[in-house]
Amino acid sequence: MKKKSLFPATGGFLHGGDYNPEQWLDRPDILKEDIKMMKKAGINSATLGVFSWSVYEPSEGEYNFGWLTDVMDNLYENGIYTVLATPSGARPAWLDEKYPEAMRVDNYGHRNHHGFRHNHCMSSPVYREKVSNIIHKLVENAGSHPGLVMWHISNEFGGECYCPLCVKRFQDYLADKFDNDISKLNYAWWNTFWSHNYNSFSQIEPPFANGEISSLGLDLEWKRFTTWNMTDYMKSEINILKKLTPAIPVTTNFMQMYGGLDYHVMAKELDVVSWDSYPALHNQWETFTESMESNSFDHAILRSMKKDKPFMLMESAPGLVNWQQYNKVKRPGVHKLFSLQAVACGSDTVQYFQWRKGRGSFEQYHGAVVDHLGTDDTRIFKETEDLGNALKKISKAAGTIIEAKAALLYDWDNRWAIEDIKGLSNETKNYNNICYNVYRQFLRLGIEMDVIASDSGFMDYDIVVAPMLYMLRPGVADEMKAFVEKGGQLLATYLTGYVDINQLCYLGGFPGDGLKDLFGVISEEIDTLYPCDTNNALFKDGSLASIKDYAETLRVSDAEVIASYTDDFYSGTPVVTKKKYGKGCAYYIGARICDEKMSSIFLEMAENAGITRKELPYGVEYHKRTSDGESYEFYLNNSEEVQKVKDVKGINLLNGEQVNGILELGKYETAVIENV
Ligand code: GLA
Ligand code: ZN
Repeated sequence: MKKKSLFPATGGFLHGGDYNPEQWLDRPDILKEDIKMMKKAGINSATLGVFSWSVYEPSEGEYNFGWLTDVMDNLYENGIYTVLATPSGARPAWLDEKYPEAMRVDNYGHRNHHGFRHNHCMSSPVYREKVSNIIHKLVENAGSHPGLVMWHISNEFGGECYCPLCVKRFQDYLADKFDNDISKLNYAWWNTFWSHNYNSFSQIEPPFANGEISSLGLDLEWKRFTTWNMTDYMKSEINILKKLTPAIPVTTNFMQMYGGLDYHVMAKELDVVSWDSYPALHNQWETFTESMESNSFDHAILRSMKKDKPFMLMESAPGLVNWQQYNKVKRPGVHKLFSLQAVACGSDTVQYFQWRKGRGSFEQYHGAVVDHLGTDDTRIFKETEDLGNALKKISKAAGTIIEAKAALLYDWDNRWAIEDIKGLSNETKNYNNICYNVYRQFLRLGIEMDVIASDSGFMDYDIVVAPMLYMLRPGVADEMKAFVEKGGQLLATYLTGYVDINQLCYLGGFPGDGLKDLFGVISEEIDTLYPCDTNNALFKDGSLASIKDYAETLRVSDAEVIASYTDDFYSGTPVVTKKKYGKGCAYYIGARICDEKMSSIFLEMAENAGITRKELPYGVEYHKRTSDGESYEFYLNNSEEVQKVKDVKGINLLNGEQVNGILELGKYETAVIENV
């Protein structure tokens, strides 16, 4: 793959963050100081205008963009590029006062009062018109500025609106989806149950908290609609920018594994994927290493949305955030490790929220590169400067990408369907965590893994893991068969293929849609275990793996049984099977067995597939970014101990040392090895 640096003008990585000069317009001394300090910290970008609407347009039709272009000029003259946001993340008071329809309605039918942010009615024609107007003005003033490198659409899209406009749009969306035939919807949602048949689309309301809370089909379509409507809104902004400034790429900042929107759908409309990473590090419920591993999964899912180019770490916290339950500061050395993890995972940027702490209001104590103290000798400033230098040292790696041979299938609507299952236990479904755990095992094995939508095509991988793929999208079962047939290693678990995309159960045995032939098993029952219940899988080699939460009883028609239950009335019956199918192999794991055993099965799959892996000490994370024969290996020590990695060869760009054999990494240290 050819190297495609996202920001060639910078000669490497973008390093910067949200910058709010409009909060300091009465302090030219501070703005001047900012530029000086940015240069010192190796900052080459600033994200401007995220919440500037009330300064751009203090009252309807009155505009004020001079400050923006002055700031952009100053930045540009000092080698600092601008990521410019459209200001639709928060509405000015005059807008809500005059056009209350822009304010969202909650799931009890109450309209919000003015205030806060990220709470617009995405259907409102007036809101869309006002946004369109301010974007046109913004482009008129700043769209051809030489410092502009990226459009940042609005901010952290999220939430739902239950206003009459949204209800109507939802009804139209459903009518369109079900061919204007209400009987099709009634069948898909199984509405004869509890006498819930509708006579017309106009009777359908969203799942109001005091209304229809028992329809799984409604819940799911409402979530899909919310994604569709949000995407439609986002496109209304993008279309303007594409028309007026076609050369400037667009992105919007996603929020990790946010549950309210299907990011796979939204990402298709963007040039570049970007996201805001704020894990609670140094917490009480997991080790630091585990927190870093989960964050790596988040990078993987976002990165995999556009595999052929780098992504952007649009926001992260220098020091700390102000909204977690306990706002702990990043320990010394973690800023660099955390930022380089993003780069290791394929980001071409390290960006922060925020450059400078504001004096007042909601985020006055949120971490920033520049504190209220205002100097460049703080711990955080110095660590940022250190990172700035590190990014320069590894600038050649910008534009390279990660190539994985293993993939994990993850769908938002599968997640929604699982969360909405009326059954099992709400305490233990934990779909996301199970996916994290799978990724974590691959990471520890030193095997790179993409995280992709189940219907985005996986024929080119060697290994596919589909944890809890409860809902089968059309075509997925057939692709699984073709994948294994041509030699792929596939693993599925309990809760695979119970329902179709409308959540109607497959008849004739789970996993449905023909998958019972592929795996050679049918799941007859699923037992939900109490936390105190114990069971085990006894493997043919005599090893035992503990089981918790879920256990399916399997009818095996045509597969090799490799483990059986040790306890309960299903003791001795199959729990893990494998079946050779064509040139490949399909594994079925009928219960939630422990991570260690899952890991050894993954290892067997890797061996079957002939995948070479990197042997790593526990706590070290490894990624390789490549392009056109160039390659950069990243070793991150996510632990407090000194670690030694074997068989490393090349130059560590971060300290200039040649490594030939053992790479020693201090606490939280990173090495970036150029293989030449
Ligand atoms: C989000 C927002 C920012 C800021 C940070 C604080 O990511 O996009 O505006 O509020 O959270 O962590
Ligand atoms: Zn609405």
